[in-house]
Amino acid sequence: SYSVSSAFDFTPALFPLSSTAGGYTAIGAPTTPTFDRGGAIENLEKHKTLTYLNGLSLVIGLIIGSGIFSSPSQVNLHVGSPGAALVIWTISGLLAWTGAASYAELGGAIPLNGGAQVYLAKIFGEMTGFLFTWTAILVLKPGSAAIIAIILGEYIVRAVIGAEVEEINPWINKAPAFAALLIVTFINCLSTRLPARVGDGFMFFKFVALAAVTIIGIVVAATGLSFKGSANTEWKTTGWFEHTSDNISDWAVALYAGLWAFDGWDNTNYVTGEFKNPSKDLPRVLHTAMPAVILCYLLANVSYIFVLPFVEMNKSNAVAVQFGSKVFGPIGALLLAVVVSLSAFGALNATTFTSGRLVYVAGREGYLPDLFGQLGFSSSSNEPQRFVPNKLRTRTPLTKACQNVLGDSDGTLFLTPLAALVLNLVLTSVYIVIGEFKTLITFYGCAGYSFYFLTVLGLIVLRIREPNLERPYKTWITTPVIFCCVSLFLVSRAVVNEPGQAAVVLAFVVAGIPIYLWRVAGRDGRGGVRRTNDDSSWKFWRRWGRT
Ligand code: ARG
Repeated sequence: SYSVSSAFDFTPALFPLSSTAGGYTAIGAPTTPTFDRGGAIENLEKHKTLTYLNGLSLVIGLIIGSGIFSSPSQVNLHVGSPGAALVIWTISGLLAWTGAASYAELGGAIPLNGGAQVYLAKIFGEMTGFLFTWTAILVLKPGSAAIIAIILGEYIVRAVIGAEVEEINPWINKAPAFAALLIVTFINCLSTRLPARVGDGFMFFKFVALAAVTIIGIVVAATGLSFKGSANTEWKTTGWFEHTSDNISDWAVALYAGLWAFDGWDNTNYVTGEFKNPSKDLPRVLHTAMPAVILCYLLANVSYIFVLPFVEMNKSNAVAVQFGSKVFGPIGALLLAVVVSLSAFGALNATTFTSGRLVYVAGREGYLPDLFGQLGFSSSSNEPQRFVPNKLRTRTPLTKACQNVLGDSDGTLFLTPLAALVLNLVLTSVYIVIGEFKTLITFYGCAGYSFYFLTVLGLIVLRIREPNLERPYKTWITTPVIFCCVSLFLVSRAVVNEPGQAAVVLAFVVAGIPIYLWRVAGRDGRGGVRRTNDDSSWKFWRRWGRT
């Protein structure tokens, strides 16, 4: 077990993630909030503990989530054939890999926390950085939470009604999605330790589900076994590329679906600061983790293809349920539905946790009204709010154990970014209500890849502008170039195919401009973001000056 708290460099005191094996991703503002309960913010240098293997499990854990259990049908339906689907999975994986490598270079060259926001601010000016955070708060974080929740809902419903029912009213799926979101938000409001524990616990399920699918599929293919009905021989008899779509827009939508499953690669650089030996280990981690995830996803897809006839695979977004049902009947469907639901629940918890931090830090920075930068119920005090009477707090082993799991060890509850979490809850709920898996992945992808594109373009700009900058890890220049070309293609296709969605994304981004001018620009002598007393930021700004 190792600490990742300082990787995100918020406050270790506030967000005690002591043994997180992954799942905690953060998009954050660049500075550390100054909240400190009793000097618990330790020297961050002490947290440089990650080894190669730690980093590997962290990155893989960040990426694998709901996508491999939900995207296949959307990929298949749009490209039309199993062979083409595998091509899409390969392309999405390679694109994510080039993106991750580019971000790793940026992370090394600009060794600050905050990810894309900081890189964009440095390279294109404060406003671009602000707009990224703004979009993350309004679109990216709640959008991805909504996607995960909807998949979770669909799997829960499938666990109850089985694989056979063809059409399910979307509202039936959305009800459990919403319920899960409420539970997860409540857990995150209660304490910061509890969600970390929940995260640790649920990490396990995604690996179980993925391993089960892969191993079963290969066994089925190798032995020709099928426990229920006759074996699927379609993949032996039909051409793998028959009925492949030649419509470029279809390919773009399929890519968005594939990329959803690989999303999270942008968080690789949050662990840079954590490595004992970053310049050696980070590239090693990246260049092992990405091909490993690509391989896992390809195997899982091949496995789906071996077991399920193409049409059956695409009946719902809950492909793992169809898979379980085909091999083991209703019991198999139930088992896989439960495991995938639990895995998605863990992912929803992780994303809620980081959204809370993101909004909170934005509140501290003054990006959002102060309310969002508050902890707990009271606006003025930094005092822990004790819901457990003092006398009881350390009395019995049972209360001790409860406190240990639930709250901070001193029995504090609800000392969390409540307003931030509620904002995220409201936004996510809106997306759950108005969206569905199919539309949300394009919407999310269009917004996400616009900023990924800009950030990686920034890498190229920085290479030209600051050729001598120290870069502990330097990728081939082809890497960001390829990434930029493909993501530009993706975003432009979204504009052409889904002008409505693209317009909404654009409207959200543009709406941030007046907010920036009002709340951030010209706020102090440096004309930029008000900085709290974060050392590394100060050093950084002294080194770089203003852009
Ligand atoms: N790849 C993940 C999945 O398949 C989604 C990750 C969501 N994105 C994020 N930045 N947390 O579910």
